[in-house]
Amino acid sequence: MNLLIVGATGTLGRQVVRRALDEGHQVRCLVRSLRKASFLKEWGAELIPGDLLKPETLPPVLAGVDAVIDAATTRPTDSLSIRQVDWEGQVALIQATKAAGVQRFIFFSILDAEKYPDVPLMDIKRCTEQYLAESGLDYTILKPCGFMQGLIGQYAIPILEKQAVWVMGDSSPTAYMDTQDIARFTVAALQNPETSRRSFPVVGPKAWSSYEIIRLCERLSGREAKTSRMPIGLLRAVQKVLRFFQWGWNTADRLAFTEVIASGNPLTASMDETYQVFGINPNEITTLETYMQEYFSRIMKKLKELEYERERAKEKKRKKRSPFKSATTAASKSVSKE
Ligand SMILES: NC(=O)c1ccc[n+]([C@@H]2O[C@H](COP(=O)([O-])OP(=O)(O)OC[C@H]3O[C@@H](n4cnc5c(N)ncnc54)[C@H](OP(=O)(O)O)[C@@H]3O)[C@@H](O)[C@H]2O)c1
Repeated sequence: MNLLIVGATGTLGRQVVRRALDEGHQVRCLVRSLRKASFLKEWGAELIPGDLLKPETLPPVLAGVDAVIDAATTRPTDSLSIRQVDWEGQVALIQATKAAGVQRFIFFSILDAEKYPDVPLMDIKRCTEQYLAESGLDYTILKPCGFMQGLIGQYAIPILEKQAVWVMGDSSPTAYMDTQDIARFTVAALQNPETSRRSFPVVGPKAWSSYEIIRLCERLSGREAKTSRMPIGLLRAVQKVLRFFQWGWNTADRLAFTEVIASGNPLTASMDETYQVFGINPNEITTLETYMQEYFSRIMKKLKELEYERERAKEKKRKKRSPFKSATTAASKSVSKE
């Protein structure tokens, strides 16, 4: 199929690009920066500059496309608001897709979005799901709740670097999934008529609490975590203050997401139907134990190599500074051999 992937430089989008290329699809990506997306070109994708917030850039990129996979969302580092990208931008893309006569559209929402109408991103996701359902497009909505990739920066790296790991008391256990597995479901949906005009949860095999993840990382790294508790009351207060200032709206909207995590309600769902409809074997899905084990064994090996190189560089420097001493050491060694 000829695919258009939007949000292709993102955590999930890039895995979808890779999977689609591996399965023999032609992949075109709408990207805001050709330079930042150059790795996708190296993988074999076609890059076309565009922006969801510049609707005039959408029709050319949709020409000749069979299906759109939309993995775009607001970057926390962007000055753009959730409303601009996740609502106005998505509506523009859905309208342009329809106008271009492209029928198939895969969208990523968030699990349980409908349960949190006061959380801006959740409410916008729910509205987009509804807009898509009424658009007449042949859509499939996939609903993850958290990516395993996000846990590296949140837990694994701080533990390795002896930095504080921030946790929010009894936060909601979450069934994280590896984005490579989510990409597998995404590409499998494309030509599966059973997924048409339906929504599916795409979540990992087990819901993990923060403390369980910390214990797992401690065991795999052999290092003890420095855990710091973040008071939810403080976050709520900061969010309220930020609402007073226009420049703080975006941050306040993001902080509102803490309400989901602090609710204590597990973010998980039964995957029985999803596995059955997509024809994917649950035993082939990456568990968090395997994911973290692979990460730590790779990073520990790299750290050992770096340590070895550092020691060698130090030794070289020392020898250069005191050639007499090292010559003496060498000499005494050869003497002792005789
Ligand atoms: N992260 C999670 O744990 C999680 C959980 C549940 C659901 N989801 C959903 O999964 C999807 C992918 O999330 P992610 O975490 O992989 O996203 P991400 O890493 O934050 O990447 C966002 C992507 O959207 C693109 N983008 C942002 N603004 C754009 C604009 N105006 N026009 C065109 N492209 C734009 C970014 O492009 P640039 O490189 O140019 O910035 C980037 O490729 C989203 O729908 C998200 O809501 C995520």
